[in-house]
Amino acid sequence: MSLSLIGKNVAVSVTLKLNQTFAILKEKGEPVIHLGGGEPKSLAPIDAITAISSHLNSGEVRYAPVDGTIDMKKAIIRYTREHYARVVEPENIVASSGAKQALMVALQAILDPQDEVIFPTPYWVSYPEMVKLCGAIPVPVTPEDGTFTPRMSDIKQNVTSYTKAIIINSPNNPSGAIYPASFIKDIVEFCEKKGIYLIMDDIYHKLVYNGVEVANPFDYVKDFSDNSKLIIINGVSKAYAMTGFRIGWAIANKTLSFAMANIQGHQTSGPSVLLQKAAIGAINGVQSSTESLRMTLENNRKVLIQQIKAFDGLHLLEPDGTFYAFVDFSAYDKDSTRLSNFLLEKVRVLTMPGVEFGMEGYLRISFCGSTKDIIEGIERIKWAIDPNSPNELFIGERKLVRDWN
Ligand SMILES: Cc1ncc(COP(=O)(O)O)c(C=O)c1O
Repeated sequence: MSLSLIGKNVAVSVTLKLNQTFAILKEKGEPVIHLGGGEPKSLAPIDAITAISSHLNSGEVRYAPVDGTIDMKKAIIRYTREHYARVVEPENIVASSGAKQALMVALQAILDPQDEVIFPTPYWVSYPEMVKLCGAIPVPVTPEDGTFTPRMSDIKQNVTSYTKAIIINSPNNPSGAIYPASFIKDIVEFCEKKGIYLIMDDIYHKLVYNGVEVANPFDYVKDFSDNSKLIIINGVSKAYAMTGFRIGWAIANKTLSFAMANIQGHQTSGPSVLLQKAAIGAINGVQSSTESLRMTLENNRKVLIQQIKAFDGLHLLEPDGTFYAFVDFSAYDKDSTRLSNFLLEKVRVLTMPGVEFGMEGYLRISFCGSTKDIIEGIERIKWAIDPNSPNELFIGERKLVRDWN
């Protein structure tokens, strides 16, 4: 079969693939526990449902402006004012089919083949592939001090004359780390001085715990005119539990936003007007569902941390945000893909292999499911990998017997 270079080389999204495997096993009636999930289990806000329903009932669902409806842009302006203390104009906004598409069209609008894009490790699985889809070169940068927090010196060492952009994702998927304000200040100022695009992927910025604050890049920006290289990515997927609605957006300078909208116009003609209605409902509506989701996740986080602490040999830097913990399992197995496959096969627990996020020896464990699943999932993992475990484990009626060491 003749495929393009991109078609041949783009890697499968392992997170999406494992989600499919989970769905197949569940369908077969297997007692699987999903500790790899990337979406909250709560329902979409009622204001989102009401808004989409009444538009759907009108029967008039048509093409909409490529970069978002006027009402969608008003809602994003309001959101940006509230969360970033910055008033942006409609021409600074591109609404897309998820934060993922906003990020993708931003990269397509700024990257030429051979350009380099820096991002800290661990990173969201899609960054390297998205950069490669543009013919550009991903440059992951691993913090040298063994933490999940990059330092400016780590970043600067990797900047070359080809560096076109830096992607920062804080709170971070998969580590849950929130980068300190001093780092955000330094990176904003550095990028502004050097003329490097700074893409802030803020999709988890409302899901933070223990009062830790996420720094606002706009606090450090001197210039948000057409020379500005700052791009903010956000959306309703995570904080409003609206992953399936596929609405996200980018805030950028007007020339860049115009180019992004042109690209999007030839790809999807923009996000569905129906789904924008739902997103508008969520952003403009009562905000209590986000806070109650955050509180549920805060409790789940506590439960997961307790479970992991009671597990000898594991190492965890506690997450301050998101709904992921990135746990060091290297004392048990340094090959995270093998370990993840083993856990799914033997005890039917789905975890995400750290190597997909750029760090071998780790597993990403989500706390967006139920506390029951978190507790049972970690107990099953312990049984599977601790050589001192009893020989048998019951999952419901099913008896598992260890046939490995
Ligand atoms: C860091 C990060 N950015 C962007 C996205 C994409 O969000 P959306 O579902 O709105 O496309 C995700 C989804 O998992 C993510 O983890």
